[in-house]
Amino acid sequence: MDRRKFLGYTAIGLGAALGGFTLWNPAKGGRSVAAKAVADPNFVPDVEIALTAQPGKVQIFSGQATRIQHYTAKVLKGPAETVQTIENSYLGPIFRLKTGQKVRVHFTNQIDQETIVHWHGLHVPEVADGHPRYVIDKGETYVYEFTVANRAGTYWFHPHPHGKTGPQVYSGLAGLFLVSDDEEQALNLPSGAYDLPLVIQDRTFDAHNQLMYLTGGMMQRMSGFLGDRILINGRPDASFDVATNVYRLRLLNGSNSRIYKVAWSDGTPLMVIGTDGGLLEQPLSKPYVMLGPAERIELWADFSKYAVGDAPKLISVPFDGAGGMGMMGGGMMGGGRRGSAPANGSGFDLASFKIVKKESSNRSLPTVLSRIPLADSAQAVNANKPRRFVFAMSMGSATINGRTFEMTRVADDEIVKLNTTEVWELINGGGRGMGMMGGGMMQMPHPVHVHGLQFRIIERTTGSGWNSMKDGFVDEGWKDTVLLMPGMRAKILLRFEDFTGLFLYHCHNLEHEDMGMMRNYLVEA
Ligand code: C2O
Ligand code: CU
Ligand code: CU
Repeated sequence: MDRRKFLGYTAIGLGAALGGFTLWNPAKGGRSVAAKAVADPNFVPDVEIALTAQPGKVQIFSGQATRIQHYTAKVLKGPAETVQTIENSYLGPIFRLKTGQKVRVHFTNQIDQETIVHWHGLHVPEVADGHPRYVIDKGETYVYEFTVANRAGTYWFHPHPHGKTGPQVYSGLAGLFLVSDDEEQALNLPSGAYDLPLVIQDRTFDAHNQLMYLTGGMMQRMSGFLGDRILINGRPDASFDVATNVYRLRLLNGSNSRIYKVAWSDGTPLMVIGTDGGLLEQPLSKPYVMLGPAERIELWADFSKYAVGDAPKLISVPFDGAGGMGMMGGGMMGGGRRGSAPANGSGFDLASFKIVKKESSNRSLPTVLSRIPLADSAQAVNANKPRRFVFAMSMGSATINGRTFEMTRVADDEIVKLNTTEVWELINGGGRGMGMMGGGMMQMPHPVHVHGLQFRIIERTTGSGWNSMKDGFVDEGWKDTVLLMPGMRAKILLRFEDFTGLFLYHCHNLEHEDMGMMRNYLVEA
């Protein structure tokens, strides 16, 4: 008996209801055709952007340029500052928007694979969320229309075609989506050159400066791709010239699977002011911060105590428990190196900040940054009976509650009601059915992400490597991704509002996601 619902026909109704946004053709088997979205004539955008994914070349090292794929964008309507290009980088332009702005994005695919853009962290309607069933082919255009509903924060966008998200992000397709609002503006935080986004990614290049991806076969897919070079904003050996002043650093872990334990090289505590879903209620001083794939933190970086010539660094400090295959204990994959890439949990430099200029600053850190409602599980319809989702790896498969991704299906336990609040318990369940390979082999971190909303973390248990990372979780604010180490569980509080339809939840280790560690949940009216 099939307990699952087939949602294909629902999509027809919805497409029609939304003025022909997209059509579903069951005969084509599990993907949308005619995904060319038609703009709603009644939607009047404040900002209109043409966004294109296309192949290109960028000079990352001396010698041969690196072939990449990247997003380029043009403002068709609205403030020119909405789109800000990063010089000499494969990274997509930075979108700068304000809460309440109505946005129309005409996304055109000029790469050789199907693709679609997802706005990571944004609260948008189903048809604007970049679900893989909306992929478009080369030459096609998908039109997104949504109102920026999120509060001020550091969000981002990246491809989301099923099975190809990892390689497409790796090839260079990703960009930041920065939102500001009145509450944030009133704080007068560092801005302009003092508002510095840092997208952290790891990459491996061959002798001709070309990107190499997953050359290590199935074992490498299962642990997730790990590169041997750290790039910040698409540049290796990143160094920023700064003044003796205060900076707002926005860190995004845009890596496919690498986790960072971020700290200042001289032991200065990190002053954390924001996370995935924007500013915290109050600044939080941390010895270091754990940053899993897709997670963001914002730092208040005060360089005023340094002298010109100093060069403090952001580094990633070694930690335990992310060994993946290393958990096998010894042997060739247990030694912490696969190919030449350092294992997850290795230490290295991220970026240095060269103090080049004396400046006097009168900025002081606000004691209150924003208001965040109390995360009260009593609001949940299932406070005493959380929905449980177990993320597990076994040889060649990556599952959630034993299931892998199905394009348009949800199971009974993946259907939620609009305008309700729920508690979900996300469990890193390690491996199963290892047989002779030994029980712990497939234990690896799973950074779990839920689409369409920001949630709160109400409980986190310990897990592998706990003692080396326990002071580095920032669970206080709004989140869309939670890093679960092997054996770790987190309870999150989510509210489903405004939009019905199919949304994704998945592991944001992009290789795990591509292997199918991704599912739909359905918000029903
Ligand atoms: Cu960055 Cu489906 O997510
Ligand atoms: Cu997302
Ligand atoms: Cu995972």
